[in-house]
Amino acid sequence: MNLPLKPPGLALAPAAPRFINRYSDTLDGQPRSALQDLADGLNEVAASVSPKYFYDALGSKLFEAITQLDEYYPTRTEACIFRTEHAQMASALGAAGVRRPCLIDLGAGNCAKAASLIPHLQPQQYVPVDISVEFLRDAAEQVQGMFPALDVVAVGMDFSAGLVLPPEVQTSDRVFFYPGSSLGNFSSEEALAFLRRISDPAQGGARGLLLGIDLVKDKATLEAAYDDTLGVTAAFNKNLLRHVNRLLGSDFDARHWQHLALFNEAESRIEMHLQAQKNLTVRWPGGERSFRGGERIHTESSYKYTLASMSALLRQAGFTQINYWTDPKGWFAVFWAAV
Ligand code: AVJ
Repeated sequence: MNLPLKPPGLALAPAAPRFINRYSDTLDGQPRSALQDLADGLNEVAASVSPKYFYDALGSKLFEAITQLDEYYPTRTEACIFRTEHAQMASALGAAGVRRPCLIDLGAGNCAKAASLIPHLQPQQYVPVDISVEFLRDAAEQVQGMFPALDVVAVGMDFSAGLVLPPEVQTSDRVFFYPGSSLGNFSSEEALAFLRRISDPAQGGARGLLLGIDLVKDKATLEAAYDDTLGVTAAFNKNLLRHVNRLLGSDFDARHWQHLALFNEAESRIEMHLQAQKNLTVRWPGGERSFRGGERIHTESSYKYTLASMSALLRQAGFTQINYWTDPKGWFAVFWAAV
């Protein structure tokens, strides 16, 4: 017996993004090596935790709140550059021979930045990638709703570990989109290695990179952006302890830790730390670490570049044609770097 076929006119199912998850943010889903990395970082003399652990579902929401703070200028400054320069950006891609790109959004978060450019860059496929899997799922559905005809393939993964994308991601005309100054979380050696991976035909296989990066400016403006009056950044920093507790099974008590944000001028980076308010011991299955009052955990470095230092880094990483756009104050820059 034949199954009744729906006439095509009744196929009204809403467009849905494809979703591929290669990351788990629970203890059970973690490879041993990831848990070992976390424990090793905590056991270093100068303890540290990677900033990628800010982004569980609540962390992504807190970051979204940060982007709306008066003091946090990067997101709104970058949005203003996109609004002013999108036509120039589209023609730079065109000049590099890219027509309907596959736009790969690294650390897509709420996908708002890409959504503002999609009408201008006209991608064939949009690939938001994020470690914050649950948050990504909702964001991808929203973008799909905004652009029903767009092929959306959302990928939950930790791209700091490698850029090999699933086979659903088209291999031709790939353009990497790395906005928001997230590259700033890498040291210059790590940033160089990461950019080389993008430009390497055997790995990222990109035609080019559209990169947003925060620029060096006065210390007071920088420090206020990472230590806001409402305490949202402090909450974002402390939420990392809850995420680590869930991953590692540790017993951090956020009440005993204070948020610190300092601009290290010699290194040209904002540093965020959590400082123990008293002597305490943190325990987890298979390990423990004692902290003296005043001891810190380094949770984030956010490197600030100049137009010259970023141009040099991109050249060193193998990109050839480099364009950039800034805002009137010269606070933030968007680079287009063609392979
Ligand atoms: C998402 C890494 C770009 O460094 O400005 C915001 C993260 N940390 N406030 C940044 C962040 C504290 C943000 N990046």
